[in-house]
Amino acid sequence: MSSSTSSEGVVDRVQAFVAENKRAVLVGAALTVAAIGGAAYYASTSRRPGDGDAEKGERKRDKKKGKSSKKQKSAKDEDGPLLEETEPKVSETKEAAEAALTEEQIAAMSTEERKKAAASLKALGNTAYTKREFSSAVELYTRAIAVTPTPEPVFYSNRAACYMNIKPPVYESVVQDCDSALQLDAKYIKALVRRATALEHLDRLEDALRDFTAATILEQFRNDNASQSVERVLKKLAMKKAEQVLSVREPRLPSHNFVSAYFGAFRSRPPPLLPENPSTGDENLVTAVQALAASDYAHSFTLVNEALEQGLSNDELKAEALNLRGTYKFLFADVPGAKADLLASLELNPSLTQSLVKLASVHMEQGDTEKAFECFEEAIRQNADDPDIYYHRGQVLFIMNQFDQAAENYTKSTALDDAFVFSHIQLAVAQYKSGHVANSMATFRRTLKQFPQRSEPFNYYGELLLDSQRYADALEKFDRAIEIEKAKVPPPPINVLPLVNKGLALYQRDNKPEHAQQYCEEALELDPECEAAVATLAQLHLQQQQLVKATEMFGRQADLARSEPELLNALTYQFATAAQIEFVKNYPDMTPQLSQIAQSMMMQ
Ligand SMILES: *[C@@H]1O[C@H](CO)[C@@H](O)[C@H](O)[C@H]1NC(C)=O
Ligand SMILES: *[C@@H]1O[C@H](CO)[C@@H](O)[C@H](O)[C@H]1NC(C)=O
Repeated sequence: MSSSTSSEGVVDRVQAFVAENKRAVLVGAALTVAAIGGAAYYASTSRRPGDGDAEKGERKRDKKKGKSSKKQKSAKDEDGPLLEETEPKVSETKEAAEAALTEEQIAAMSTEERKKAAASLKALGNTAYTKREFSSAVELYTRAIAVTPTPEPVFYSNRAACYMNIKPPVYESVVQDCDSALQLDAKYIKALVRRATALEHLDRLEDALRDFTAATILEQFRNDNASQSVERVLKKLAMKKAEQVLSVREPRLPSHNFVSAYFGAFRSRPPPLLPENPSTGDENLVTAVQALAASDYAHSFTLVNEALEQGLSNDELKAEALNLRGTYKFLFADVPGAKADLLASLELNPSLTQSLVKLASVHMEQGDTEKAFECFEEAIRQNADDPDIYYHRGQVLFIMNQFDQAAENYTKSTALDDAFVFSHIQLAVAQYKSGHVANSMATFRRTLKQFPQRSEPFNYYGELLLDSQRYADALEKFDRAIEIEKAKVPPPPINVLPLVNKGLALYQRDNKPEHAQQYCEEALELDPECEAAVATLAQLHLQQQQLVKATEMFGRQADLARSEPELLNALTYQFATAAQIEFVKNYPDMTPQLSQIAQSMMMQ
């Protein structure tokens, strides 16, 4: 979005921070970066004894497949895993091919006999499976389970593979059999993946994610397939949840500081002129504008709605009212509503350039940059001396990475009115982005001098210094910004971004997440809606394996999310972290290894 000046700088920073520290930060949620490469993050301590056999079995069968006639279709299970066992010995097979045994007969057998019978039945089951006779294979495994004195996980897992392949597959039975297999061996990867696949088909996505996650971690992130499955299920889950959230969510304004930043991106204008005998609607419009000036946005919105319902005395007032209501609609994320109001406003007063500039924001939000630039052109035709036009055109160019042209437009905006702090700041940032570092620093120093009582120049200058790893200088600027903000008397909440930035600076300097955390927590106490603080805290908790706190923060981040991509991002992390909590609960012995991964990644 083009115009949300002050908060977006830091959100960008946080995102950059997250990207830079992605490996470290994502360990917990692991999974989006699970493909981080084949490195072994920790030594495997607990391989299932059966795993070795399984691989041998596969290799052997593959070899056999090469030789066998075309008639015999390979038993390659469509869901990936192959059977665990090698081919049976013929003699055993014959012996066990007898009719099903009754309970009495089983009871009469010795343990040794029962073991032997079970092994033979399983072998027969495997043969039937290889021939794709899945129903008889189920029957044989069932008999093996009935006769065996010591149930083996592979019996259940193999029967699950049959249920998976029967047409149509019986996913509930797959889940049940994998439950049994995993009760006997919780780290049985094939059973985990099989159950996960069935659960995904049953649309039990959170459970599927739990299993795919466990398989990924147990396989030390080396199993690309499992990690890809994690990503796929995470995405499905987040999209499903986002849809639910958005369908029931009441439209609402973003955080106070966000709204104030949006309105703050326009120079203030004189209040609307009232006619001699103002109507109730006229008066309500004036009160709405006063409420806006007092940062009482909810009240201001109600009043402007009333004003429009009651009716305004002339087209100019009506255009003003529509401009204001359109702006609120835009902030409520009602983009079509905002567009309609702004167009109606321009219909009544084509020279209201602010409506044109805001309409450009709407076009940007809809991804139509061409139309956005047309709005700026039209605005310049109406009033070439409106400094807001150039500032906002600069913002659009900035978003498009056209920093030199953006810088020109900020400069023009400042030339028309140099009392607006953001065109100075954005010029400095654009200069920095286009590689003119010395110019940028000079612009900042000039701006600090011109606006010694504004926290924003200190904050953004600090960010830039931090980006150049000049920690001491950055911290000094953040401290000054914090001082200025804390001298303000709330309500409304002060701008806490410098606090978050200070935390990040300390973190980057000392690699101590506790520091960053402390400052983010303070920021949240002062402004509970600060998205940057919530997002940073969530990542910090995650990195320190404070999983429960991390999910809480991701939940909060989802609550605060303004757009669908932001919501998806927060939900993805929330679900990934929740799956990891499940893992820690189900595999307490693996917890030390998990934090070891976190450690080794933090060192990178
Ligand atoms: C990976 O998983 C998918 C679905 O779960 C499966 O279709 C595919 O065969 C698997 N690939 C391997 C190499 O295991
Ligand atoms: C501002 O940006 C536009 C591109 O949209 C460019 O044509 C123009 O030269 C820039 N500078 C000024 C001062 O308008």
